[in-house]
Amino acid sequence: MKTYRIALIPGDGIGKEVVPAGVKVLKAAAQAGEFALTFEQFNWGCEDYLRTGRMMPEDGLEQLRPFDAVYLGAIGHPTVPDHISLRDLLLRIRFGFDLYVNLRPVEILPGLESPLRGKGAADINMLFVRENTEGEYCGVGGRFKRGTPDEVAVQHSVFTRKGVERVVRYAFEHAARRRKRLASATKSNAMQYTMVLWDEVVRQVARDYPDVAVASYHVDALAARMVTHPETLDVVVGSNLFADILTDLGGALQGSLGLAASANLNPARRLGPPVFEPVHGSAPDIEGRGIANPIAAIWTAALMMEHLGEAAAGARIMEGLRAVTGEGRIRTPDLGGKSTTEEFAAAVVEKLAA
Ligand code: NAI
Ligand code: MG
Repeated sequence: MKTYRIALIPGDGIGKEVVPAGVKVLKAAAQAGEFALTFEQFNWGCEDYLRTGRMMPEDGLEQLRPFDAVYLGAIGHPTVPDHISLRDLLLRIRFGFDLYVNLRPVEILPGLESPLRGKGAADINMLFVRENTEGEYCGVGGRFKRGTPDEVAVQHSVFTRKGVERVVRYAFEHAARRRKRLASATKSNAMQYTMVLWDEVVRQVARDYPDVAVASYHVDALAARMVTHPETLDVVVGSNLFADILTDLGGALQGSLGLAASANLNPARRLGPPVFEPVHGSAPDIEGRGIANPIAAIWTAALMMEHLGEAAAGARIMEGLRAVTGEGRIRTPDLGGKSTTEEFAAAVVEKLAA
């Protein structure tokens, strides 16, 4: 029997609530399938930082490397500045393992409604491909004359031809297999270096995919289009920052940030395991109450199974998830219900066991 080793990083806040919920569902999926999962938990996060001054151990990447996948909750807590918690853990893993694709589906689940009037599952079905290793989040820059009236802060964006091309190509591959339609998020009117390079690469790669209709939209107009004409969008490719922003909007269009799932991948070479994590953060405003929506984490678990080569198990998890949302009995408060994280997860587990 094939066994997959999963590293768990619940992280902070509701990460510690939705990861156990997702693990229950994963265990049920493994029981129903012909494979086994083993889990090892790493309690890295802000609490550790306050104790040790590090978000993860110095050799953290080495510790994760042998695993088949990382299943992560969320990182960040008001006790630690966000730029420290994000950079020292999440970005270190994404950059260190060169996980250049951040894949984020935006779909409407059965029984759930989008806040967009008159738009449903047939209209809102997008797949975001976010560049995940460079761009606006490269961390190059500095501050000068700190704390004085003459203070200067510089934050560079780094776009490489290789980096843009590989993620754009990956997006075209998905577009070719879906509705043969790709939207590219740009802002080349205002950013004449990075975004003009981005557009050029999109046009070049497009020549290899003559069947895919490609449209470049300025990111502001694209945000509006997601609201006014979501049905015209299928695969969307964007830079680290642009697609970060657009996918929170995507989560909102789905009905809650608690629904949006994501996979961090390197489809070309393995420097470390892929990382699967919900789009949402640690939600300090609701942590510790047991009411976080585990759908994003469970959907993320389905993506993980799919990318581990257990597509049937991934599909079963999604079927279970869809069955529970379709019935509409069990909903967490973000979707207008009164159920808890655990009650929702238990309902999905029940479907998988049936
Ligand atoms: P957030 O995503 O944590 O929360 C935004 C809003 O959505 C809050 O009102 C929250 O209650 C709600 N929400 C999010 N997930 C939910 C869920 N599963 N169920 C129900 N409601 C949910 O974003 P925010 O507030 O900007 O960030 C909070 C912390 O998380 C910060 O420290 C931030 O840096 C970090 N963060 C971490 C991310 C990650 O680990 N990938 C991503 C985004 C933020
Ligand atoms: Mg984000």
